[in-house]
Amino acid sequence: MSSLVDAGLTVHVQEGAGRHAHALDAAYRAAGATVTPEDPTAQSDVVVSVQPLTVHQAGLLEPGTVTISFLQPANERELLGVYRDRGVTSFSFDLLPRVTRAQSADALSSQALVAGYRAVLVAAERLPRFLPMFTTAAGTVPPAKVLVLGAGVAGLQAIATARRLGAVVEAYDVRKAAGEEVRSLGAKFLELDLEAQSGVYASAQSEEFLERQRELIGRHVAASDVVITTAAIPGRRAPVLVTTDMLKAMAPGSVVVDLAAESGGNYAGSVAGQEVWVGDVLVHGALNLPSSMPVHASRLYSRNVLNLLKLMVVDGSVRPDLGDEVLDGCCLTHDGRIRKELP
Ligand SMILES: NC(=O)c1ccc[n+]([C@@H]2O[C@H](COP(=O)([O-])OP(=O)(O)OC[C@H]3O[C@@H](n4cnc5c(N)ncnc54)[C@H](O)[C@@H]3O)[C@@H](O)[C@H]2O)c1
Repeated sequence: MSSLVDAGLTVHVQEGAGRHAHALDAAYRAAGATVTPEDPTAQSDVVVSVQPLTVHQAGLLEPGTVTISFLQPANERELLGVYRDRGVTSFSFDLLPRVTRAQSADALSSQALVAGYRAVLVAAERLPRFLPMFTTAAGTVPPAKVLVLGAGVAGLQAIATARRLGAVVEAYDVRKAAGEEVRSLGAKFLELDLEAQSGVYASAQSEEFLERQRELIGRHVAASDVVITTAAIPGRRAPVLVTTDMLKAMAPGSVVVDLAAESGGNYAGSVAGQEVWVGDVLVHGALNLPSSMPVHASRLYSRNVLNLLKLMVVDGSVRPDLGDEVLDGCCLTHDGRIRKELP
C-alpha cells in the first residue's frame, strides 16, 4: 500500500475490506490510503481485487479503467463482454506469462504455495491418526503415508509440509523433471511405466494415457493414509486420477484432499467446498484454500499486485504498454475488444 502511495498513486480502500484478513482500516490509513464508506470502484482508474468484479460493478467503470484480479476467461464471458463494451483494460493473473521477469507478480504461484501448505493441515486435522512416527512405552506408531499427485508449486509445498510433519511421502507428476525437486524434499518420486507428453508445463494427456496412469497409481492410492491431488492443466478440466474403486481400497478413515476440485476434480466425485464420504474415506473438495490463511495469502498477493502495477506506472499514472510481453500476455480486454480467444 505505502509503495503504491510512494509511486504517486492515490489509494482508496472500502471500509472493512481487509477485516477478514486482519488488516484494519487504521492500518490502511497509516499506510497513506483513504478509507471510504462506499464502494470506490466506480471512481477509480485502477481497480484491484482477488476475485473478478461483478457484472454490476463492471457496468459502473469509466472507459480506460484498468482492472487486475484472478479471472478465468472461460468462466467470465458476460463480464468480459461488459469490460469490452465499456472500454475497460482488464488483466488476469490466470494468464500471466511464466517468464522470469514476471515471477515476482506470479499470483498463481504464491496462492498455490498457500494452498499446498494448507491442504496438508486440512488432511492432518481430518485424519484420525498421527502423521509422524512415535516410539512410546505403549508401542510404536508408524508414520502416516502421504501420496501427492501433481508436483507443481502446490504439490511441492504439500510434500514439504507433510515431510515436516513427519509423514512418509510419495509423489507423482507427468513432468519427469519434477522428480529431482520431489526427491530433494525427502519424498519418493514414483516412476511409472508411462510416456507423458510434457514440457515445463503439463499438457493434456490422452484418455488412454490417463487410463493406464490410473491402473498404475491405484495400488499407491490404496496404500496411502492421505492423498493430496493437485494435478491441473491450465484452462482445462482437471484430469481424473483417482477413482471410487481406489478409494474403497484405502484404509478406513483415510483422507483425500482434492485441490483440483474447483476445476472438476482429480477425483470425479469431489465437490468444491464440501466433504463427501466414499465408504469410510473422506474426500475434501478444496474451495479457495488460500482464503483460509488470509494474512499471508493477502501479503503475498499484494506483492504480486504491486509488481504487476509497477510495470504499468509511468510518472505517477497507470499507462499499460501492451508491447510489454508480460502485460500483453495477461491483458484480456483493451480498447473495446477482447484480446484472447475464449475456449
Ligand atoms: N518460470 C516461472 O516463472 C514459473 C512460475 C511458476 C511455476 N513454474 C513451474 O511450472 C510448473 C507447473 O507449475 P504449476 O504449479 O502452476 O502447475 P499447475 O497448477 O498447472 O499443475 C499442477 C501440477 O500437476 C501436474 N499434472 C498435470 N497433469 C497431471 C497428471 N495427469 N498426472 C500427474 N500430474 C499432472 C503438472 O505437471 C503440474 O506440475 C512447475 O515446474 C513450476 O515450478 C515456473
